[in-house]
Amino acid sequence: MPLACAQRHPPDGELNVMDSILGLDSAASLRVTGARPARGSLRVPGDKSISHRALLLSAIARGAGTITGLSLGQDVTHTRRAIERFGVSVADLGDGRLRVEGPIRHEPDDVLDHGNAGTGIRLTAGVCAGIDGLSVLTGDQYLRRRPMDRVAEPLRAMGATVDGREGGRLAPMVIRGGNLTGITYAPQQASAQVKSALLLAGLSARGTTTVEEIHPTRRHTEEMLQQFGGRVRVDGARVSVEPGELTATDIVVPGDPSQAAFWAVAALLADQGEVVVEGLYTGFGRSDFVQILERMGADISFDLTTGTLAVRSSRLRAVEITAEDVPGIVDEVPVLAMAAAVAEGTTVISGAAELRAKESDRIASTAAMLRAFGAQVTETEDGIVIEGGARLRPARVDSHGDHRIAMTAAVVGACAAEGDTVIEGWDSVATSYPGFARHLMELTGTTAEPAA
Ligand code: S3P
Repeated sequence: MPLACAQRHPPDGELNVMDSILGLDSAASLRVTGARPARGSLRVPGDKSISHRALLLSAIARGAGTITGLSLGQDVTHTRRAIERFGVSVADLGDGRLRVEGPIRHEPDDVLDHGNAGTGIRLTAGVCAGIDGLSVLTGDQYLRRRPMDRVAEPLRAMGATVDGREGGRLAPMVIRGGNLTGITYAPQQASAQVKSALLLAGLSARGTTTVEEIHPTRRHTEEMLQQFGGRVRVDGARVSVEPGELTATDIVVPGDPSQAAFWAVAALLADQGEVVVEGLYTGFGRSDFVQILERMGADISFDLTTGTLAVRSSRLRAVEITAEDVPGIVDEVPVLAMAAAVAEGTTVISGAAELRAKESDRIASTAAMLRAFGAQVTETEDGIVIEGGARLRPARVDSHGDHRIAMTAAVVGACAAEGDTVIEGWDSVATSYPGFARHLMELTGTTAEPAA
């Protein structure tokens, strides 16, 4: 069946201009009106994880390369500013392309402000550890509360001096780098950020750096190091890198599967929903939400050759999500939890304690959002139990500064709750998905406007 409102694909720059005129991206609170099905096809912004790495690897590498389709979210923009502080030249070529010329020339000439970006600060910490010089890294009020000891401890073991508030547990973080030695390290958390920080530091260490993960996580750093000529070996959950120079290359950033997950659930929440998202990343560890939704009975397909995701409104059933599943859906739990609220049966999510260390305590903020929409939930130490079959009502939802809570609430407000939903802390969405409110309006026909 052809889609009634197939979208054209305006370049992100055009979207941003329109949305900033309407004030939709910067609104402190947003009101959306539901409930209508989401219908149409679209492209989502460039993958955030790949965008951070494209900038950092291009900064480390010798020579000039281009990056096409970089995420325009604030998180990635902070990483761009950070590499400029190292003397790396970054030029806009127009048409969504950047030219980056490395390698890093000197220690950063000022404090590196990573805003809300956990990936930005932790990966950059790995780069700073490899540099003979002093770096100071900080972020916004939310980032400064998130744990940094998970990267500080192994970077110290490699020979960097790392200090910060509460014994290096929290940013601001001060790193004096250089003269590193490779280590073998088994992080306590399944974290691609920790793994990546160590691999980036390992590029300039003496000897091999090896990370042994408790569960394999997304492999962007490994894949991209290979693209830049790095010597990296992946053996299941064990990853090693050898020291060596990288060579600049051209990177094309595919669409972000984690952003597509919002539209997948949007399609499922109302009768007649049907959404196609094109051009997504298809590699390891990023599309596990598709399998979870399949387990819930969703009519969903993901073409691994084209990166096209297609989803149609379906009757959903409850699912059990355990520690094994969590690393593959670490960013999608809030929106999957909302799907569980309308599914038949009781969904149990466990083994997800890591979610408490995200942009917000995502177990608490997801549970609060579900309750606000009228679902029955029990918060556990490492997860949530969700009673399905809820009749969702419009709500006032606090994002707690967390873009993924805000976007989930907007989708539910537009597609599944009759009436006006207000999302407080809407401006957090600009960290990863400028133009989200416009896409929501285009797909659902909802009105979205700044609210008091
Ligand atoms: C990311 C890893 C994940 C994820 C984050 C992006 C990355 O964090 O939640 O959005 O790009 O490496 P953790 O490594 O803390 O699980």
